[in-house]
Amino acid sequence: MLFFTKKSSYLKDLIPSNYTDIHSHLLPGIDDGATDSDHSITLITELKNLGFSNFITTPHVMEHVWENTKEKIESTLLTTQKSLTANGINNSFKAAAEYMLDEKFRKLFQEEQLLTLKDNYVLVEMSYLSAPLQLYNIIFDLQVAGYKPILAHPERYNFYHSNTKEYTKLKHAGCLFQMNLLSAVGYYGPMVAKTADYLLKNNLINFVGSDVHHLKHIESFDKKIVLKNTDAFKDVFQNNNFFTP
Ligand SMILES: [Fe+2]
Repeated sequence: MLFFTKKSSYLKDLIPSNYTDIHSHLLPGIDDGATDSDHSITLITELKNLGFSNFITTPHVMEHVWENTKEKIESTLLTTQKSLTANGINNSFKAAAEYMLDEKFRKLFQEEQLLTLKDNYVLVEMSYLSAPLQLYNIIFDLQVAGYKPILAHPERYNFYHSNTKEYTKLKHAGCLFQMNLLSAVGYYGPMVAKTADYLLKNNLINFVGSDVHHLKHIESFDKKIVLKNTDAFKDVFQNNNFFTP
């Protein structure tokens, strides 16, 4: 009797050529990602070795925690670009931000220009503990201000795991979804992987991102995919071409 077993893939083998990553913490010393310039270069080199071609890195902008301004992010980007060139790394390397959905953010987008991934696409996140009370109002106002929200790692918000209808509601409210690559290998636990699978199966994921902060994240690209919907996952990678420079 013949048994056909589907070989599971390693995450590192799924990175397509000319992959553009739209979520990471690679700028030195401005959030909980790269600690200094050497760390930045190490992380970017390792990601390049994995097959990442283009980077749009996204430092946190979070009241009381990471109060990064547009100017600070842009000046840190400039310094990093110079050291990349000095180290012979010529990949496209840009910066946007990962904005926490809170009242400070609402004030920010009403008063200033946000850093976008491309055109008016802006990466946003919420607390892992709970959604903000004014979530739908903030998302509405953000779109009135002319932006398209991309919600980072929707599969990681535990409070939605048993309330998956909220995902459809968020999509109807105008959010696009960016899944974390490491959710596919179970890095954040089985419930996050299961929820990522649910979102993929229901065609709710628009883009992927690495959300790399440190080397442990990069080492986890050596792990096997634990998803059932690997084909849908592979397809979503292609959508990132939208951001390819
Ligand atoms: Fe992030």
